[in-house]
Amino acid sequence: MQPNSPSAEQILNQVRQLYELYPFPPQPVGTVPPPGWNWRWSWPQAHAFCTGSHPGRRKVRILDAGCGSGVGTEYIAHQNPNAEIWAFDLSSRALEIAEARCRASQAPPVQFRQLNVYDIDQLPGQFDFINCVGVLHHLPDPLAGLQALAGKLAPGGLLHLFVYG
Ligand SMILES: C[S@@+](CC[C@H](N)C(=O)[O-])C[C@H]1O[C@@H](n2cnc3c(N)ncnc32)[C@H](O)[C@@H]1O
Repeated sequence: MQPNSPSAEQILNQVRQLYELYPFPPQPVGTVPPPGWNWRWSWPQAHAFCTGSHPGRRKVRILDAGCGSGVGTEYIAHQNPNAEIWAFDLSSRALEIAEARCRASQAPPVQFRQLNVYDIDQLPGQFDFINCVGVLHHLPDPLAGLQALAGKLAPGGLLHLFVYG
């Protein structure tokens, strides 16, 4: 680390403050399910795309890691009504909006938690499908974040990952 570069704790605090002030994405909360269908957030379709086969079961556990204000979470909940869905974020304000968003469109239940991705082991069990969009590049150690996510993936599970270039 450079002599004047911020510590890991400073980076996490700055990221948290940013998203407490500006929860992302800023889309307003609607009252109806999200428009359209996004195959990346549909367990059977993502499974078929990645493996060429139907998963066979729909009662899976899905995690939205760094869910922000819940636009993706809302899609995931509506598109996987038989799944057990969890979502977490560092920002309490983003989580409030995410919960309000899912409630307003009567999405299937989502367990929301305020959590640092490095503390993901605090969540029970493993997940068949982990969605992590726009998060890892914010971490002081992105590889450690990726390893934390991988550690919560069930055997044969899918990780949908997106980072900013
Ligand atoms: C660009 S937003 C993406 C939100 C959402 N995934 C989406 O695509 O709409 C990044 C989110 O990652 C969260 N985040 C950043 N670092 C995190 C960490 N260490 N643990 C948990 N969440 C984190 C932020 O609070 C923010 O809500």
